[in-house]
Amino acid sequence: NTPQKENSAPTAAKPNKGGLEGIVAATTAISLVDGTAGRLIYRGYNIHDLARTCTYEEVVHLLWFGHLPTQTELSALHEKFVAERTLPDFVVQTIRELPTTTEPMDVLRTAVSAWGAVSVSGKPTIEQAIAATARFPLILAAFNRFRQGKEMLESRPELGHAANYLYLLTGELPKEEHVRGLNTYLVLLADHGMNASTFTARIVASTESDIVSSLVAALGALKGPLHGGAPSKVQDMLHEIGSVDKAEAWIREAITHGGRLMGFGHRVYKTTDPRAEELREMARVADPEDFKLSGYVEQKALALLDEMKPGRKLYTNVEYYSAALMKAVGLSGDLFTPTFAVSRCAGWTAHILEQVNNNRLIRPEAEYTGPQSATFVPLTERK
Ligand code: ACO
Repeated sequence: NTPQKENSAPTAAKPNKGGLEGIVAATTAISLVDGTAGRLIYRGYNIHDLARTCTYEEVVHLLWFGHLPTQTELSALHEKFVAERTLPDFVVQTIRELPTTTEPMDVLRTAVSAWGAVSVSGKPTIEQAIAATARFPLILAAFNRFRQGKEMLESRPELGHAANYLYLLTGELPKEEHVRGLNTYLVLLADHGMNASTFTARIVASTESDIVSSLVAALGALKGPLHGGAPSKVQDMLHEIGSVDKAEAWIREAITHGGRLMGFGHRVYKTTDPRAEELREMARVADPEDFKLSGYVEQKALALLDEMKPGRKLYTNVEYYSAALMKAVGLSGDLFTPTFAVSRCAGWTAHILEQVNNNRLIRPEAEYTGPQSATFVPLTERK
């Protein structure tokens, strides 16, 4: 044993980079994000298996109840969703009265809040989780119809979550490949460990607030471009780059001036995001022409990030190909982030229920860096 030197200088504290990086803020059995191996697991199942084979409803059942459903359980969940595919009149009225130029993400946050103002209170329940998850797509589709000067449509009970959403947006029975594409997207985005919006939802739930307050807060957190607000910005970036021959110069210039390449980098993944791998293949098949540019820009961006930001381990994240996939299934750019919320509602509610069933108030501390002994001067004497 080396004796401890008396009065030795304390070990230099690691500078606090902020952002709660590396901090374990909760225990959860819902999903695991393994940032080193590039693995995402929902309750034991690898995301690749779920994305390639399951419906969104199967995955929602898995997240909420802890196991993949039998056919009987799946049919029962479908029936419950169908029964909740309705919006109170005052919520419809709220959506109708918002200016047609309102961002759909803001419409969703506002309409969810309006719904919660009247009909939701008490300790969060699975019934409320079902109702919220069923209603997110209805709100967006209603607004999308109203802003086109059309009336909202009735849901079709025979359609699953993805197909019904597409039907409500367009009024047409969606193509099979569009349903499949959107379904896979919804499966891939349904949960993701302690991401910013899920953490937000859990913090609100930990105060014993209601489920809608948690969801409204989560929607606010998701909206930012460092989280779920990136996909339409990926599209803007590709649009600005315009063609493969301009890609290298554009990317170099952006990184040199401290810009963030949208769809790259992640707080946890220090390798490719497994969801991006699935989405890349789907985007390649869905629109080979568009993929020529997005695939090329991805390769150039990865090479230049490696060269110009060495050691930062910046890889493609889920948002990069989300834009391409959602565009291919017919969604407009301003519906990309709210459609992320349509999917993540399942994860948020699973986490809210997990939080309230074993609750302790989430209340971290801050490292205070301000003065501690300022001399008080009354207002009349201040100069
Ligand atoms: N483009 C260029 N440089 C980047 C990028 C990027 N996309 N991401 C990180 N960096 C650089 C930073 O400039 C920083 O460089 P420095 O050491 O020279 O200062 C270094 O990498 C570390 O960056 P941090 O900000 O500490 O990384 P953090 O973990 O906080 O950021 C984040 C993660 C926010 C996702 C970031 O990578 C980013 O802004 N990406 C672009 C936006 C985006 O794609 N958002 C969607 C995220 S996925 C999701 O939430 C669903």
